[in-house]
Amino acid sequence: MANPVDASLHLVGQVAKVGMFAAVHQLGASYAKRQATDATTTREERERSQQSDTRHPTRSEILQALRDLIARDTALVNDGICPPLTDYHVSLPQTASRLRAMFADIPKSAERSANEGRQEVQDVVDTTGLPDYYAQNFHYQTGGYLTSESARLYDLQVETLFSGTAGAMRRQALRPIADAVAGRNQRKMQLLDVACGTGRLMGEISKAFPALSQNGIDLSDAYIEEARQHLKGRRGITLDTANAETLDFDDGMFDIVTCSFLFHELPAPVRRTVIAEMSRVLAPGGTLIFIDSMQLGDAPAFDGMLEAFPNRFHEPYYRNYLSDTLDDAFHEANLVRAGQWNAFLSKVMVRRRAAG
Ligand SMILES: C[S@@+](CC[C@H](N)C(=O)[O-])C[C@H]1O[C@@H](n2cnc3c(N)ncnc32)[C@H](O)[C@@H]1O
Repeated sequence: MANPVDASLHLVGQVAKVGMFAAVHQLGASYAKRQATDATTTREERERSQQSDTRHPTRSEILQALRDLIARDTALVNDGICPPLTDYHVSLPQTASRLRAMFADIPKSAERSANEGRQEVQDVVDTTGLPDYYAQNFHYQTGGYLTSESARLYDLQVETLFSGTAGAMRRQALRPIADAVAGRNQRKMQLLDVACGTGRLMGEISKAFPALSQNGIDLSDAYIEEARQHLKGRRGITLDTANAETLDFDDGMFDIVTCSFLFHELPAPVRRTVIAEMSRVLAPGGTLIFIDSMQLGDAPAFDGMLEAFPNRFHEPYYRNYLSDTLDDAFHEANLVRAGQWNAFLSKVMVRRRAAG
């Protein structure tokens, strides 16, 4: 059981983090507007023409969803599942230098957004051998997922985009992991994080379940290298550059598979291939923990906001993702529903690998 002071500290820390990143978010948005007036106008015109009648959430509905996430997150500390304040990992000078670099990149991505520049990644890095769907400037970020500068800025950009809630949304994986390890010897258990990115989810898992062995794979060398730096010194961690479509692991090798914020960036058929692979490497009775954007209908008040998201950020597969029948796809791959809930702008889907 956790010390009650830990939960209070964590709650205060999360509220402060949300406040800080919400301010950075506002600052970034107005800077982008000032820097690229023409570009922004073009984008706004495009947005207006693409606007649907679907309802957007009110301010109080957004705040309620945020409060629910922070309450769920604080409960993890209160229930002794994870230690407090685990995502305060970057030093102040490092944060300052990354913030400076992130703001320096804003005019470039604003211009790319206005001109719908999606492919320049091929001019910056060699994309030979990578799937076409992957070699793009996701979110209009410079270098797509393929440069070390993109990897260095990713976490700050994501926390800014989600007003400081990305860590808390990922930590929602910890409760189903706690359920999966209950009564078992964690030292003998193996977890795979698919598309681990810069390793933030693996870091949270490692702090909460230090005895668990973890493998992480991602298609980007640069992100894997950033993950290595982030996870340096933590035991039982293996990281490899690999494609989630063809996992180089034996059938049934893992007790737990996690996957956060990958699927909205994949074409529909590739989502099916990755689901089949995740199911294949899970042991019968093993747990899949999937976290990604909410889909249409998960929280109907948010549907308009979800539909508007790809107008601002280059997310070529997001619209299709919003109404993809993931539940059926999991079912077809022998992954049976074991839990599901919304976590602010994301959803958590827990599935158990059936035998056979
Ligand atoms: C939005 S990021 C999410 C990263 C991380 N899981 C997180 O929670 O922040 C998407 C990640 O998926 C990776 N990715 C995209 N397609 C992939 C594929 N086919 N195989 C492996 N990784 C892939 C990208 O390189 C990127 O790191």
